[in-house]
Amino acid sequence: MEAYCLKNTWYIAAWTDEVLENAVFARTICDEPVALMRDANGVARALEDRCAHRGLPLSQGQVINGQVRCRYHGAEFDGCTGKCSRIPGQATIPAAAKVRTYPVVEQDRAVWIWMGDPERADPSGIPRFELHREPGWACRPTHQLIRADHQLISDNLMDLTHVGFVHVGTLGGDPEHHANANLKVDRTPHGVRVTRIMQDTVPGPFHVRQGGFKGRVDRWQIIEYRPGVVYIDSGMTDAGQGGPFELRDGVFNLRKVLYNGITPETAHSSHYFWSMAHQVGADRPEYVEGFFREVAATFAEDLDIIEAQYQRRRDLPGRPTFDRVSDAGGIQSRRLLARLMSEEQEVSRNAA
Ligand code: FES
Ligand SMILES: [Fe+2]
Repeated sequence: MEAYCLKNTWYIAAWTDEVLENAVFARTICDEPVALMRDANGVARALEDRCAHRGLPLSQGQVINGQVRCRYHGAEFDGCTGKCSRIPGQATIPAAAKVRTYPVVEQDRAVWIWMGDPERADPSGIPRFELHREPGWACRPTHQLIRADHQLISDNLMDLTHVGFVHVGTLGGDPEHHANANLKVDRTPHGVRVTRIMQDTVPGPFHVRQGGFKGRVDRWQIIEYRPGVVYIDSGMTDAGQGGPFELRDGVFNLRKVLYNGITPETAHSSHYFWSMAHQVGADRPEYVEGFFREVAATFAEDLDIIEAQYQRRRDLPGRPTFDRVSDAGGIQSRRLLARLMSEEQEVSRNAA
């Protein structure tokens, strides 16, 4: 099968809260079945989801003191090393009685996994979600499955001109202003950044409800792509108050930072992990709840669009498409990923 994703990169496998003590669950990542659990010390671990005895998914078993016990004949595997630690009815454990483990690091409320060459898994390269640790910021990390190729999700996030058309009832705003936003695309050390500034524009209904804006606003969106992750720092102030780079003390701003983890499940489906951090109203649970509901409803609209778009592209493969100016960030991100994937393929061909 032709490669459709990068293996040598850090992906989110799960949010921290999803991986419980004394439990194991299944998640397919880059077409590989993975069992996620915690070891005896509470450290998140990822094992190949296949018992080395006769192949039953280990995720159907149970976790006892950091050992996952297969549901079929009760063999136990160590969550940390993947080695079989017990076979009922015999003292000898064959050398082949072990399953693959994946490098996993828990950081900033996410469990990051490395699906490629374990030798290259450097935890210092894990993207940071700093606001998940910052006092005074609220967020509610969420996971959804999207039946579409992962690159359509990053395309959606890299071109926010869709906001004025798709999210009319929430993030909306004037579609013409979105299309004409001042746009800048730069390379970053790990990816691509798109900066969009809209001055003297209308807020979306969400901003009126959650930010109390009454008149025109200055609005920013700073979007940064790196493989597996897209950050979106966005917000607004009343018009004429300086915008994102000169925010003045005492000027109210509705800033929100969206963390997106986009993890390929298969060539035709993706895990979408998102978390919108915000400071305004963070100390008021009912505000946080309302904020979350509006954002979740907004992303349900994206999910609808992306799945319909993907289905039609599969129905009619190879049909021509065209690019527009606002596609620049998505195009550069795709180029970067294509280059990294082809380098990765080259290395594995040479090693074969
Ligand atoms: S298949 Fe797991 S112990 Fe037999
Ligand atoms: Fe959207």
